[in-house]
Amino acid sequence: MERNVVYSAVQPSGIPTIGNYIGSVRNWLALQEEYACYFAMANMHAITVRHDPALLRRRTLELCALYIACGIDPEKCTLYVQSQVPQHAELCWTLNSVAYVGEMERMTQFKDKSRKHEDNINMGLMDYPVLMAADILLYQTDLVPVGQDQTQHVEIARDIAIRFNNRYGETFRVPKTLVYKQGAKICSLQDPTKKMSKSDENPNACVFMTDDRDTIIRKFKRAVTDSGSEINFSEDKPGISNLLSIYCAFKNRTAEEAEREFEGMGYGDFKLCVGETVADALAPVQAEQTRILADKEYLSGVLARGAEQAFRAARKTLDKVYRKIGFYRGE
Ligand code: TYM
Repeated sequence: MERNVVYSAVQPSGIPTIGNYIGSVRNWLALQEEYACYFAMANMHAITVRHDPALLRRRTLELCALYIACGIDPEKCTLYVQSQVPQHAELCWTLNSVAYVGEMERMTQFKDKSRKHEDNINMGLMDYPVLMAADILLYQTDLVPVGQDQTQHVEIARDIAIRFNNRYGETFRVPKTLVYKQGAKICSLQDPTKKMSKSDENPNACVFMTDDRDTIIRKFKRAVTDSGSEINFSEDKPGISNLLSIYCAFKNRTAEEAEREFEGMGYGDFKLCVGETVADALAPVQAEQTRILADKEYLSGVLARGAEQAFRAARKTLDKVYRKIGFYRGE
């Protein structure tokens, strides 16, 4: 029997944070045992804000090495670079005629990024969700595991799939969003009401996957906490709740277990403990990432194989799309 399909991606637009790991890559590990998984490095999305070309190239490889270092197995999953599969751009163009400008303008991320990059509100920035829909729909995806901030984009991909199917006949499987309750939104250590983001200007706000032990512990020591002294999950304690979520994710603890562990502890010791936990968990991942990155031949082999597998699957869907939409395909 054919396995159901899982699709997800990360942009190689900066160094991934523990938010990317907790909200996304970590959750892929169990899925790869059961589903046909496609995990991409979304480098075409990464050029919608100003970028350094050499750095983008390097970050793309680093991201692939990180996926593998986190436990994503290239023998079980298809790991590939988005721009190496031309069907993404082709399907994006086709879907552009199904997606409405109004709905793109309403996207939260588009509005945020437009505000942040006033001098560079380019067409790609607005089209970003359509390219993401193309990513997902090309593989006849069943499930899209993402963090909270990407759920609106997966919703739009669903809307586009349904609209296309209604207009041109059954073509795409309509994907479901998979958001894990725990860790779907890891927040900034400096402002726990805001998402932790790799592009944050304050380096103390986020913990990067490549931060060394001292840096990690320093950042947690400086983390903003709340009034009171109890360590528990609570809506009026966004700082403490965020730190607890991070702890639970790295230690594989339930909320109740973590709260029990920290009963009676002061905020200072608690922050130190979370910092040490994260540093301990990241050390082997970092060592493995460095090892994989040094093996260029292995890495380029993984990516060549991934691109080929993705290409084959994507071509099947795009052929169907071109047939349905009436594109001349030779006699
Ligand atoms: P990106 O690169 O911003 O983030 C990658 C994944 O990490 C999740 N994430 C978080 N989760 C919890 N807490 C946080 N602070 C946090 N920050 C990020 C994101 O929700 C995401 O799951 N457009 C996408 C990449 C993409 C994609 C796709 C994803 C391109 N095509 C198709 C899924 C399917 C993005 O920019 O993710």
